[in-house]
Amino acid sequence: MSTRDRWQNLVRRDRVFDFVAEGRFPLVQGRHPVVEGELDLSHGTILYLDDVTVSFDGFKALNKLNLQIDAGELRCIIGPNGAGKTTMMDVITGKTRPDEGKVFFGQTIDLTRRQEHEIASIGIGRKFQKPTIFPEHSVFENLELAMKARKDVWNSLRLKLTSEDLDYIDKVLLNIGLKDEVSRLAGLLSHGQKQWLEIGMLLMQGPKLLLVDEPVAGMTPQEVERTGEMLVSLAGEQSVVVVEHDMAFVRSIANKVTVLHEGSVLAEGNMDKVQSDPKVIEVYLGGED
Ligand SMILES: Nc1ncnc2c1ncn2[C@@H]1O[C@H](COP(=O)(O)OP(=O)(O)OP(=O)(O)O)[C@@H](O)[C@H]1O
Ligand SMILES: [Mg+2]
Repeated sequence: MSTRDRWQNLVRRDRVFDFVAEGRFPLVQGRHPVVEGELDLSHGTILYLDDVTVSFDGFKALNKLNLQIDAGELRCIIGPNGAGKTTMMDVITGKTRPDEGKVFFGQTIDLTRRQEHEIASIGIGRKFQKPTIFPEHSVFENLELAMKARKDVWNSLRLKLTSEDLDYIDKVLLNIGLKDEVSRLAGLLSHGQKQWLEIGMLLMQGPKLLLVDEPVAGMTPQEVERTGEMLVSLAGEQSVVVVEHDMAFVRSIANKVTVLHEGSVLAEGNMDKVQSDPKVIEVYLGGED
């Protein structure tokens, strides 16, 4: 089957509806995300959590958590198992509602009042550990699909990509280091390459903030190194928040690290500062991780 035929199959209306129904891509009406006002970064802060508390049956998974991420920043979040790292990402993406506290995207967008799909469409992309790529389609088609899903269903049926669309795909291919694999079936990529493709698919949605939970788990040392370079290069244009247990990896990419423990910030600063903090040493040597 030619690439064009395969693509025509792919964009059959029922398939597009399937993808949207599965919630794999947010359905954005029109070209512009549904937000009251644009993302306001005038104060330099892209994400702001103030005294956020989340309780599960009385147990506080987050306990007055405060976090501020600058526009363009790359931030690493570390902490022992159960510290609340994934719960924090669930709150930012609208999957979990906080019992108390504020969660703002830029100055004006209150994320606690947004639905999960809406949050994805206004510029917060989340990478899960298990990639949700389409193995039976090429790298190019995966990126193309992610791009088309960004617009409304009818525009997605437009078959011809503009030169602007193609330039954007090209840029993302460079970002994720898969330019040489563009025609390869996604299912045939290595574990690391699949993870990068997933990041690429998020980038096709034009996020302003990327949340990445344990990106290097299961990767080869070379893939870990390449992933580090990629995340560092994505910061600037995007803000990137990385949750990771691999300390050597965190040290290799982070300027600023936040240590979570029992749902709150235990320490924050550069890697040397947090690793020499007695509170951090106690938590990590306490056998919790
Ligand atoms: N839906 C839930 N219901 C009940 N308890 C939950 C739920 N989600 C998380 N928790 C609890 O909240 C705490 C924080 O969990 P969370 O998954 O956020 O930790 P984490 O820092 O991501 O840990 P890990 O490093 O193991 O991924 C844990 O004690 C967990 O058992
Ligand atoms: Mg977790």
